[in-house]
Amino acid sequence: MSFIVAIDGPAGSGKGTVAKLISKDLSFVNIDTGATFRCVALAMLQKNIKKEEEKEIEKILKNIKIDMKADGTILLNNEVVTDRIRENDVNELVSPISTIKIVREKLLEIQRNIASGKNVVMEGRDIGTVVFPEADVKIYLDASAEERARRRLKQNKEKGIESSYEEVLQNIKDRDKRDSSREIAPLKKAEDAILIDSTNLEINEVVKAIEEIIEKVR
Ligand code: DC
Repeated sequence: MSFIVAIDGPAGSGKGTVAKLISKDLSFVNIDTGATFRCVALAMLQKNIKKEEEKEIEKILKNIKIDMKADGTILLNNEVVTDRIRENDVNELVSPISTIKIVREKLLEIQRNIASGKNVVMEGRDIGTVVFPEADVKIYLDASAEERARRRLKQNKEKGIESSYEEVLQNIKDRDKRDSSREIAPLKKAEDAILIDSTNLEINEVVKAIEEIIEKVR
């Protein structure tokens, strides 16, 4: 029997960090679905394929191999790409290509396969609505755009990336708009998901709240 915890929400809501901590506490497998979209974007960059070239994208998708190790290592076609998929060129391409139908169809299949038969914490934008509408626990994690921009700015500083608050805030607003207004599998709260607003919460408070919900359901 598998147990599925779906955590959806916008960029910077903290879902990545929270999903990692919960899966560690409960010995569940953590699946970051954003990373699967990032792998497709990187595979396109490696072959110099533009987002309009559907035939070429189809070829890439046909043989793509994405693996996620328990320690968080991400492999694209057997190559370690854990840090590479967080770089700027991937950041720019990933949201536009996540609107392409064949990309979403292939990744849906991959995401369901990775989770098959396991206890998982899966985080993304459409887990509770599309990937696992029957998930045992569904969380929609949100925070104000301003707070998410402050968090992203702090992360950038820690990584030595230069950026301004205004630039990061604008980028978050643009991404929210694109992710929520796309035709296929837009970012939205599933009707039966529990909304947690993390604007004024510490990470450990969010983790505790979600673990209590999981505990009740199990
Ligand atoms: O969570 P992230 O920043 O790594 O996600 C990268 C992009 O992938 C994001 O702009 C939207 C897309 N994405 C998606 O469309 N559906 C998901 N389940 C996860 C991510």
